Amino acid sequence: MDALITRAVSEFSDIFGEKPSHFGDAPGRVEVIGNHTDYNHGFILASAIDRRLAVVGRPVDGETARVYSRTFNSGASFRAADPVKMKENPWVNYIMGVIWQLRNKGVKVGAFDAMILGDVPLGAGLSSSAALEVATAFFLRAMNGFSMDPIAIAVNCQAAENNFVGMNCGILDQFASAMAQPERLVFLDCRNLDAYSYYPLGSAVKLVIANTKAPHVLVDGAYNRLREACFRAARICAEKFPEKRVTHLRDVDPELLDACKNAMGEEDYRRAHHIVTENARVLAGAEALTRGDYKGMGGLMTASHASSRDWFGNSATELDAMVDLALEIPGCYGARLSGGGFGGATINLVESDKAEDFAQTLADRYREKIRIEPEIHLFKAGAGAGGGAL
Ligand code: GLA
Repeated sequence: MDALITRAVSEFSDIFGEKPSHFGDAPGRVEVIGNHTDYNHGFILASAIDRRLAVVGRPVDGETARVYSRTFNSGASFRAADPVKMKENPWVNYIMGVIWQLRNKGVKVGAFDAMILGDVPLGAGLSSSAALEVATAFFLRAMNGFSMDPIAIAVNCQAAENNFVGMNCGILDQFASAMAQPERLVFLDCRNLDAYSYYPLGSAVKLVIANTKAPHVLVDGAYNRLREACFRAARICAEKFPEKRVTHLRDVDPELLDACKNAMGEEDYRRAHHIVTENARVLAGAEALTRGDYKGMGGLMTASHASSRDWFGNSATELDAMVDLALEIPGCYGARLSGGGFGGATINLVESDKAEDFAQTLADRYREKIRIEPEIHLFKAGAGAGGGAL
């Protein structure tokens, strides 16, 4: 048994005094390229990280679900048939949200006890929340024996986050967590979730995550504002050129956007410009990976950062510093902010044999410049979610 699950089993027994019968586990994810393209029906390239979150538990009699998190050293209980959002333990909302969404789909979940344990860094833009949702869904599927494929699990976990937790994220995080494969990047056409494919990363390069530790400010509000700007821009293109059948910015190319420029506000145009060019970069990135062209891929990542910073407006001083410093260090092919933005982490594509030195130098220079101790992770592209009987 995997070390994390073994620990979760023993923690479960300590708290609940029995052995768990089932488990689910899911990784955090990193967005390699494709910034805010997901809810615009565009393209992404992502990877699971080799840090995971496990949920182990067993069914019990009665109506009450009891959950305990070792990470937060806190527990909560709720009616399994009728979960209600809570303020005291926000992490429980991700679990309840999945149960609530499964019920919307006609899947009934009975009472259970569960222990949650993981090593996905929190607040680092690595989607510990998606990992918790997806691990919960795999655990519940194993324990209750309903059938649901991993893509449907990802979609339902996204719905849980949108409609129960109240965060309007796209599909990237949950899809990557559910569908990733070791040592590969997953490519997704977010318009058609069956259109996914995998690109080997190769041993010549490593992905390095650099958490800026910049304090997140008003991330959800800012995220929604960007989303709205994208949707408005798409609506204007649709109105101006109905024959183009635009529903999302995915359907807009640079020429069409420029033809609509004067009909939209400056802010909406700038946001749309990023999305339209970013989709092209993701497609070019997938091609570069096929050729083993890491210089090309790195260049696209760096261009993606510049676009997020200059057109999309979701960078931050700390993210820009982390990227600029990285690009000066030997072995770095490319660097960019990853995830929602405004804080969180950057993702760097680095020559394998220089990766350790790169990480050390980047940490030293960032600390010196920004006066915050960053967290730098070299990681292997990990496996997607799993679950089963113990
Ligand atoms: C967050 C969201 C994702 C995606 C990224 C930006 O991580 O949860 O759905 O929109 O931001 O690409």
